Amino acid sequence: MNAPDTTPAIPVIDAGPFPSPGSTPLPEYAPGEREELIARIKQLLKEKDAVLVAHYYTDQDLQMIADETGGHVSDSLDMARFGNEHPASTLVVAGVRFMGETAKILNPEKRVIMPTLKAECSLDLGCPADQFIPFCDAWPDRTVVVYANTSAEVKARSDWVVTSSIAVDVVRHLSERGEKIIWAPDRHLGRYIQTETGADMLLWQAGCVVHEAFKATAIENLKRLHPEAAILVHPESPEPVIALADVVGSTTQIIKAAQNLPNKTFIVATDNGIFYKMKQSSPGKTFIEAPSAGEGATCESCAHCPWMAMNELHNLAEVLETGANEIHIDEEVRRKALVATERMLAFSRAGKQHVPGKGNA
Ligand code: 13P
Ligand code: SF4
Repeated sequence: MNAPDTTPAIPVIDAGPFPSPGSTPLPEYAPGEREELIARIKQLLKEKDAVLVAHYYTDQDLQMIADETGGHVSDSLDMARFGNEHPASTLVVAGVRFMGETAKILNPEKRVIMPTLKAECSLDLGCPADQFIPFCDAWPDRTVVVYANTSAEVKARSDWVVTSSIAVDVVRHLSERGEKIIWAPDRHLGRYIQTETGADMLLWQAGCVVHEAFKATAIENLKRLHPEAAILVHPESPEPVIALADVVGSTTQIIKAAQNLPNKTFIVATDNGIFYKMKQSSPGKTFIEAPSAGEGATCESCAHCPWMAMNELHNLAEVLETGANEIHIDEEVRRKALVATERMLAFSRAGKQHVPGKGNA
């Protein structure tokens, strides 16, 4: 008789139902209200010694204010870097909760506030610490690499935190020195990294509600209508969509690809909030949203993160006024999460040659 199989299985998490992409209503303003709010926010940022750090997927008014007030609009790696290096005593993070938490992990002495604390992420919700930690404990010989889209508790259990712009490089580096990996939470990004690096990886099975919805067949049909277009894809997308890509990359890498490629037209498979920066940085080029919703969909803007869309001018002004929605993290959790997060920043600053190893950083 065979011995019973004691291999720990990857837990199946049912964290949903999640709001659908495009389901958060767009902000509405009375005549003149938008301009008034923008002026008030700019004034409050000065008065409160605060700087606005916004993700590319947020409302374009927030991105514009960040740009015009010495703040920053970027991907999650660069948001973390900027917040860490800027001297302001308050960081206002417009994005989703894990971005505010990453800012606090890196800057315990600063006040970190967010326009809303309700802005979650399906990847973070799909990887609860109370299930992830025992899973890692069951595989003690594996290096734990987690995506930045996770809670502080999950980061604290990891050896490395990575974002999509650096994930392939970090895992390749670890694999080359013989390490086997636990990867969480995004299964599509995990599979993409595995294919690129050949690393031995156990993949957690969460997904992004926005990127999982892109449809390869519909993108192929669109490409037939625009044969001259390059296809740009974020690696949180499913494998058949990644297979169609001319470039796969983080949000910043997608924006740079549009600038650098000779094509004049692009089909873009990521949140459509990115079009604001893409149009600014590549004037004269045409960007087409990759199809995501099925026939009969009622969303206004289907490829748009329902949580990123919760950041808008009203709640940004209010949080600056009141100082509410501050991020707090248990100090022991923060210190552990900091080790793994700083490894990523050190890797990004120094390159492979100077990376501290697991357990000796
Ligand atoms: P980036 O790090 O590429 O900005 O991705 C963050 C994210 O949440 C994508 O959905
Ligand atoms: Fe999370 Fe997806 Fe929204 Fe990014 S787009 S924050 S991965 S739910």
